[in-house]
Amino acid sequence: MAHKLAMIGFGTVGQGLAQILLDKKEGLRNLGVETQLVAVSTLSKGSLYHPEGLDLAELLAAAKTGSLAHYPNTPGLQRGWDNLKIIHQSNADTVVEVSYTNLTTGQPAIDYCRAAFESGKNIVTANKGPVALAYHELAALAQAKGVRFGIEGTVMSGTPALRLPLVTLAGNDIREVRGIFNGTTNFILTKMEEGLSYTAALKQAQELGYAEADPTADVEGHDAAGKVVILANVVMNVSLAQSEVSCRGISQLTGADIQQAQAEGKRWKLIGRVKKEGAQVIASVQPEALPLSDPLANVMGATNAITYECDLSGPITLVGAGAGSAQTGFALLIDLINIARKNL
Ligand code: HSE
Repeated sequence: MAHKLAMIGFGTVGQGLAQILLDKKEGLRNLGVETQLVAVSTLSKGSLYHPEGLDLAELLAAAKTGSLAHYPNTPGLQRGWDNLKIIHQSNADTVVEVSYTNLTTGQPAIDYCRAAFESGKNIVTANKGPVALAYHELAALAQAKGVRFGIEGTVMSGTPALRLPLVTLAGNDIREVRGIFNGTTNFILTKMEEGLSYTAALKQAQELGYAEADPTADVEGHDAAGKVVILANVVMNVSLAQSEVSCRGISQLTGADIQQAQAEGKRWKLIGRVKKEGAQVIASVQPEALPLSDPLANVMGATNAITYECDLSGPITLVGAGAGSAQTGFALLIDLINIARKNL
């Protein structure tokens, strides 16, 4: 039987997943994964619910017009259900939560996760808010209700920054994780080295869809700090709060700082780090001038990278996309595939 999905939010990421489900329908069926998108609910474009599934091509076409009102009427189609009604009352097995990220309160996404779990539905999300601010509570609730909490897309989009350490590196004690966790700032630093101004580089990052709706979260390091908290809680199994991450972004770096580093054979990177020192956990996000011999110094543009310091396998570094429609859509898909396979 098809795995029924309800999507809360239908921006770049949600549309990315819908496009993949449309394009890869046959390939996914061969993997034993058959999905049916039964509901889409947005604040700005309206909402649709059909218990027997929406037409993905029509849905994507309607979204491009800016309003789901352009989706054709079919018998059984319901319009105007709000997010919570869809979560509670639709026949979906899984809620794909891709509404906007709030790293201060985590809301309303935390409430959507709670409501889904209480209704016996899985959550698959790329939203950092609930995972950075309420991971332990939500994971425990999901477990108590016998449903799944898929969060791969919250760090480094479809680059498996969470599943790699949890599944493939299991058995190692990971004492430290560090990396480049924000594509917007790495893109800005790369462009400034090429001679662009900070403002022009930020504008390009926004045009390319890397930046958050409010790019302050990117440039002041809060987005990276959210990912540091997720990595600490999920990968290193410690309880870390966002307020415990010492956080400084790149907005104070000048063209002169970048050139000075270049002259010294170095390169500025916004580095997130979490480290266990005895019983203590130390976490930070800050710009660091790395020598060019450091592998992280050579990660350019919007690309992200992460190094896990493992006691058995030694350091392992993963480099890949940290944002993007298809890349984050894939992160949601891989959670759906692993739910279907009953894997972690
Ligand atoms: N704004 C984020 C970034 C998107 O630039 O990395 C992915 O979290």
